[in-house]
Amino acid sequence: AAISLIGAPTDIGAGSLGARMGPEAMRVAGLQAALERHGLQVEDLGNLAGPPNPWQPPVDGYRHLDAVVAWNQAVHDAMLAALQRQRLPILLGGDHCLGLGSISAVARHCRATGKKLRVLWLDAHADFNTNSLTPSGNIHGMPVACLCGLGPQALIGMSGQVPALNPKWIRQIGIRSVDPGEKRLVHQTGLEVFDMRYIDEMGMRHTMELALATLDAQTHLHVSFDVDFLDPPIAPGVGTTVPGGPTYREAQLCMEMIADTGRLGSLDVMELNPALDVRNQTAELAVDLIESLFGKSTLMRA
Ligand code: ARG
Ligand code: MN
Ligand code: MN
Ligand code: MN
Repeated sequence: AAISLIGAPTDIGAGSLGARMGPEAMRVAGLQAALERHGLQVEDLGNLAGPPNPWQPPVDGYRHLDAVVAWNQAVHDAMLAALQRQRLPILLGGDHCLGLGSISAVARHCRATGKKLRVLWLDAHADFNTNSLTPSGNIHGMPVACLCGLGPQALIGMSGQVPALNPKWIRQIGIRSVDPGEKRLVHQTGLEVFDMRYIDEMGMRHTMELALATLDAQTHLHVSFDVDFLDPPIAPGVGTTVPGGPTYREAQLCMEMIADTGRLGSLDVMELNPALDVRNQTAELAVDLIESLFGKSTLMRA
């Protein structure tokens, strides 16, 4: 499908400033031209607008809740409009709290079109905190819980149905940092998590075979790619690095196997923080991986 790029320049849900510059860094790294080289049609819709980051302490376990709601509503509306035009939207974040608005739009669209939804959450973190469990109050640590119906009404209702997602539709890959209370909630909810221990022992190939096993011709696959999924030495430009992530080749294989399904319907590229990057290398790596996600391969494939 033809691709629409949507920038969401904010760090409203993060614990460090700079992800607001993520969309421009992806453009400077040549995302649009790279996709066009592979024969894809790409439009850049520019950046969404929203409230500034007031950089306030948490209230009731949430930092900047009202501004987070406003940004997510803008993201939801833009993603939904693109999906309704049969486009494949790529959300350029921005911090990962915006996965909530993005995936709420995808969930709404799948309900309206009778599609089966699967969400791949590529991340070092489970992002499954609530306001009582969070150690930080940063809402980028909460979007998956909100999508599963755990969170404030203003966030959980965004798709028009609570919960927006059945937890069974989600697969998390690359997880290696989960807070103590969050851990219990992940377990209670029965989230399907392929953590780094699993990837170490079973390999990325087997992991992705399982994570992608239930896709069929009627499936809309949404990939929410938090750039901190990647091993920090190859991807320093993020606010919350965690050691021991996928290598360059493991990440490529992950993307290539998703491409092979032919089911990718929408994508988030989140948490890129150019203020912490080194000569835009993390943005360039993200572009490289997105090329693979859209089917770039070394050789002709049968
Ligand atoms: N678990 C931590 C928290 O709740 C970190 C979350 C990081 N999330 C992210 N999308 N980078 O604060
Ligand atoms: Mn993360
Ligand atoms: Mn995340
Ligand atoms: Mn390239």
